[in-house]
Amino acid sequence: MKPVEYGLEKIFDGAQDFLPLMGTDYVEFYVGNALQAAHYYKTAFGFQSLAYAGLETGLTDRTSYVLQQDKIRLVLTSSLQSNSPIAQHVLKHGDGVKVIALWVEDARKAWEETTKRGAMSFMEPVVEKDKHGEVLRSGIHTYGDTVHIFVERKNYTGTFLPGYEPWQSEYNPTSTGLRYIDHMVGNVGWGEMNTWVKWYEDVMGFVNFLSFDDKTIHTEYSALMSKVMSNGNGRIKFPINEPAEGKKKSQIEEYLDFYEGPGCQHIAVATQDIIATVKALRSRGVEFLSAPPSAYYEAIPERLGKHKNLLKEDISELQKLGILVDADEEGYLLQIFTKPQQNRPTLFFEIIQRMGAKGFGAGNFKALFESIEREQQRRGTL
Ligand code: FE2
Repeated sequence: MKPVEYGLEKIFDGAQDFLPLMGTDYVEFYVGNALQAAHYYKTAFGFQSLAYAGLETGLTDRTSYVLQQDKIRLVLTSSLQSNSPIAQHVLKHGDGVKVIALWVEDARKAWEETTKRGAMSFMEPVVEKDKHGEVLRSGIHTYGDTVHIFVERKNYTGTFLPGYEPWQSEYNPTSTGLRYIDHMVGNVGWGEMNTWVKWYEDVMGFVNFLSFDDKTIHTEYSALMSKVMSNGNGRIKFPINEPAEGKKKSQIEEYLDFYEGPGCQHIAVATQDIIATVKALRSRGVEFLSAPPSAYYEAIPERLGKHKNLLKEDISELQKLGILVDADEEGYLLQIFTKPQQNRPTLFFEIIQRMGAKGFGAGNFKALFESIEREQQRRGTL
């Protein structure tokens, strides 16, 4: 199977990469009501029905709906019993990301290489088969109750995984232009960021290619620290955040309080046309953080510096939609953040369009966090 081309350069020579990753395979959420969550992600975000497993396919303990949009696959899983790890996960954390699954050539080797470097096993290598072939999966624990599952699917031609049936639905909302997962961010506890940076370096062979301290990421009231971890070919990027001391409560601390521990804070999904994507998402009811004040938009040409003549988008349109702009040496990027996507103020989505820039919008951190603080203020959690 030919690896998906993400247009990213190699971060370091693949020769030293003991854990070659070809991309994100799927992201599995544990949720209270997978049937309704699936409808929401189809209707609001433009995902399409892909596969299903539940009572009708022979399962007795859970139900899973698999959705797809271009290269993004989401699995929404609910327990059918009160006394199960899935139900306990939802009871403790609310709806959230349980599995960040990574596509590998050799899932047994991925498990051996990572566990021998100190990863705690979540799932020993297991072969699952059906008439379409076989899939080998294995898994390790990462921060909080989150896990990484390695998926080897080179001998499989089925829709998703053995045990799942194709899900044919008569309800097929159109795509909103989401293409692939750009990065997924983890929030960890006070003083734990460097522990997890070292874990991704030692256990998974990632490199730390960008760091932001609390002097970079702060507002008048709150602060956080962040280090971006990347695998060798740059296809998998995991920024790790921890809260920092400020006058008021950090948004990371709010997350940790409500998620009751470390977990996935946001999933950034790439689009090639953020204006069309955000218009479509807004029209389907997705809510975004409020736009920064107009001074932010007046300063965009200055922020873009040498790239200012490259900006294809109309600034007044970006302002109307609340889209943020940042630039680095190599180009610019456009981004916007949704409000939390479940009852608790925990997981949210970022929509990102990269126009050459490889950063994460550091120039937007202040505007973004002030916007989050306005929401925290309303929730009484600042
Ligand atoms: Fe992000």
